[in-house]
Amino acid sequence: MNDGPTCDCGCANVFGTREAEADLKRYRRKGPDSTTKALIEAIVAEGIEGATLLDIGGGIGAIAFELLEAGAASAQSVDATEAYVTVELQEAARRGFAERVTARVGDFVALAPEFEPADVVTLDKVVCCYLDMPALVSRAAERARRLVGIVFPRETWWNRIAARLIDTWSWLTRSPVRWRLHPPADIDRVFVGAGFERHEVSRDLIWRVVLYRRRIGEVTPTNG
Ligand SMILES: C[S@@+](CC[C@H](N)C(=O)[O-])C[C@H]1O[C@@H](n2cnc3c(N)ncnc32)[C@H](O)[C@@H]1O
Repeated sequence: MNDGPTCDCGCANVFGTREAEADLKRYRRKGPDSTTKALIEAIVAEGIEGATLLDIGGGIGAIAFELLEAGAASAQSVDATEAYVTVELQEAARRGFAERVTARVGDFVALAPEFEPADVVTLDKVVCCYLDMPALVSRAAERARRLVGIVFPRETWWNRIAARLIDTWSWLTRSPVRWRLHPPADIDRVFVGAGFERHEVSRDLIWRVVLYRRRIGEVTPTNG
């Protein structure tokens, strides 16, 4: 399972079994977070029957489980944090999805060519962990046939202050974790350049939820 390099996002150094099990417990009790739920509903509204999913930085697999319940055919996940992948695979088996879920540990940017293209690709609160946003987002777009769903921090003064505070705390505690506020216009430029158009889904105080649809007539990635 641990067949790829872990990544520079710092998460693998911070999140372990305790956090993954706590996230799963919360998900079983309350369902997905509100922004994750908004993203899932927007994807389902596009038509998900028989579709394939690639969930990057998928955590405990909430998006995969919800979309499989809604009719998706299969889900691939990749996460830099091994504990999340372990918990996702256990939960997939418990829900009877063992045959339809594959999950790998590693940095998607390094592993991207090894993943089959999928109808839907998701990045839920992942770009904010990763320094090289253009590499992460462009490789995600390359693997997406129809849709990319993304949740990322809004560019607001309060998020900028929060990011500074997290950086300072990480520097003081020698933690590699950063909360990166990549300009939304830069994220948008990568997707538009890759043949997608933006559809705003929702936002809350912290996060923005966006669905990118591949423009009609754009060449879609093929398997192999
Ligand atoms: C804040 S968590 C979000 C998890 C999940 N998507 C959710 O919303 O609950 C970010 C996750 O992305 C993973 N991650 C960050 N950069 C990654 C990369 N380049 N490749 C794979 N996983 C990555 C981290 O290991 C971490 O589990």
